[in-house]
Amino acid sequence: MTGLERQLPLDRHARDLNLANWNERVGVHLGDGGYDLSTHRAGKGELDAIVAGEIGDVAGLRILHLQCHIGHDSIALAQRGASMVGVDFSGAAIEAAHRLAQECGVETATFVESDVYEAPDVLSADLGGFDLVFTTWGAICWLPDLLHWARVIRQFLRPGGAFYFAETHPVALVFDDISGDADADGRPIWLVPYFEREPHIFDEATDYAHRGVKLTHSRSVQWMHPLADILAALKAADMDLDFLREHDRIPYQMFPSLVRDRDGLWTWPRQPWLPLALSLRAIAR
Ligand SMILES: C[S@@+](CC[C@H](N)C(=O)[O-])C[C@H]1O[C@@H](n2cnc3c(N)ncnc32)[C@H](O)[C@@H]1O
Repeated sequence: MTGLERQLPLDRHARDLNLANWNERVGVHLGDGGYDLSTHRAGKGELDAIVAGEIGDVAGLRILHLQCHIGHDSIALAQRGASMVGVDFSGAAIEAAHRLAQECGVETATFVESDVYEAPDVLSADLGGFDLVFTTWGAICWLPDLLHWARVIRQFLRPGGAFYFAETHPVALVFDDISGDADADGRPIWLVPYFEREPHIFDEATDYAHRGVKLTHSRSVQWMHPLADILAALKAADMDLDFLREHDRIPYQMFPSLVRDRDGLWTWPRQPWLPLALSLRAIAR
């Protein structure tokens, strides 16, 4: 059995299902077996090796972190001298991020509860006010409309400002990261067609950070976004690609067969079958 339940026509309850799922994950990520926040509490939160290698010097930058979750990366960037605004639609995540910032003595990070698509209304005074918009790992699968997403990002950037994005590679999302099913060679099984336009409901009781947990709000609705759609959306929203990289490693254990490398990222045990992650920077015109 895979976690893919069935294909949906556009479901008006999609957002509610996803919000309940994310609110529940907040408690999981704050507890034992969740996110490691020890380096944050010690004064300089660790960034994963892909982001750390690409983000550059953020000191003095004003950064908008879309889908900031519990503020893990927002606080780590604030601890490197950035002034941060984190946005997430989960009230529980925003509350956790506030608390974590306080615990870490970080005063240059604020957190705002808002849907990505509503953020330009909620943060209207900040439009055009950021040097960098930052979004990473597990973000766009929750968003149905990438053109709208890219326009939101562009609205927050000053001309010449940058969008940094690191995400699960859509090619890897074709395969099952849920059930652990694999062929005899340890390769995950096929799950969602790459060019699928319709949303899918997943029923995934476990969590990417804490495989042992059993979520009550296990159902979620997700969208597949091919690489060309991501690039086309950024271009349509007046952002020019600075770099695009594909990686054979990723910060979370996407498939059970992946192994940890010396940088703490998860990669293929023998050969790089597929790209697991992508990262890019685009500059606002
Ligand atoms: C996988 S997490 C991002 C993880 C982040 N990189 C981290 O590791 O801390 C996805 C986040 O997107 C948020 N999210 C999902 N749909 C959203 C939406 N429509 N608007 C705003 N936030 C959303 C969830 O609440 C969750 O915190």
